[in-house]
Amino acid sequence: MKSVDAVPTGATIYPIGAQAVVHALLAAANAAGFAPSILDSQPWRWRLTGNTLALYLDRDRIVDDVDVDGRLAIISCGAALHHARIALAAEGWRLKMNRRPDPADPDRLASLRLEERSLAGPANTPLMSSIRLRRTDRSPVTGARIAAAQLKAVTAAVRAEETSLHVLYPDEVLDLARVASGGRPAWSGSGDRAIGAGPAGLADDRGATFALLYGHTDEPEDWLRAGEALSAGWLTATAAGVSVLPLSAAVEVVATRQAVQIMIGCVGYPYLLLRLGRATMPPSGPRRAPAAQVIDRR
Ligand SMILES: Cc1cc2nc3c(=O)[nH]c(=O)nc-3n(C[C@H](O)[C@H](O)[C@H](O)COP(=O)(O)O)c2cc1C
Repeated sequence: MKSVDAVPTGATIYPIGAQAVVHALLAAANAAGFAPSILDSQPWRWRLTGNTLALYLDRDRIVDDVDVDGRLAIISCGAALHHARIALAAEGWRLKMNRRPDPADPDRLASLRLEERSLAGPANTPLMSSIRLRRTDRSPVTGARIAAAQLKAVTAAVRAEETSLHVLYPDEVLDLARVASGGRPAWSGSGDRAIGAGPAGLADDRGATFALLYGHTDEPEDWLRAGEALSAGWLTATAAGVSVLPLSAAVEVVATRQAVQIMIGCVGYPYLLLRLGRATMPPSGPRRAPAAQVIDRR
């Protein structure tokens, strides 16, 4: 079996064969298939070359009418990327990640290159378990608010992915609902409208905590990181018994997004609004594997 070069000295490692590498990368791409995505569009493709798995935006899957600049699709790709990273870490793999866009190939969003597999053992296993348990919870949030410790855990997970979470005060929630609903009775995003789930009306959400994912710049690379942060926060929330519902209505349209930005005192650029609550639905057990992921092999 062909071995992979460039394993640093000093680490206890498994002998790495090309087949083990391919197996790990395919498993990572499959784990990514469980990631949340706008309207369940799964707008990503993977390309496997040697020991590198590259993530591509699949432009054909962008939901044009709600996502003109592709930001929600790229956030979704970021969530898939984070899922893949967690799956690899859970198997003890260390990797080099490159998020720098290639001007010649702008749809190539990131790549993961496997470096070594350590006997130090798997990492992030609770988040790995959350991958199969996580789901969008659109049921009303009526009970007590989430505990400070739960919110702290989610915030820390988001921050570790270089994105921030601004927890809204009750007044800001009302202002935001007005801005985001644009005259509609509730601030349901494109997702629930099209999927047909009930809108997240304020009256139904007395126990909810609303928070904005935001950052200091507003470029595709930031949206990718926002997606990684969304995944990190959401998987942490799942492990902590917190339900998450993303609400894209607040950020879908430029004018609304700018109004939200001004409303939060221009602390940064808003990427996505999240509704957090105490999870009431017990996780209904591991879900079925998603449809086979689109993976090109070179
Ligand atoms: C960027 C992004 C925006 C989303 N916006 C909404 C939304 O506005 N309303 C909603 O009900 N769900 C929204 N969702 C959740 C998706 O609809 C959901 O992830 C998808 O249908 C797959 O279901 P699952 O999360 O249960 O696996 C969003 C997800 C992402 C990643």
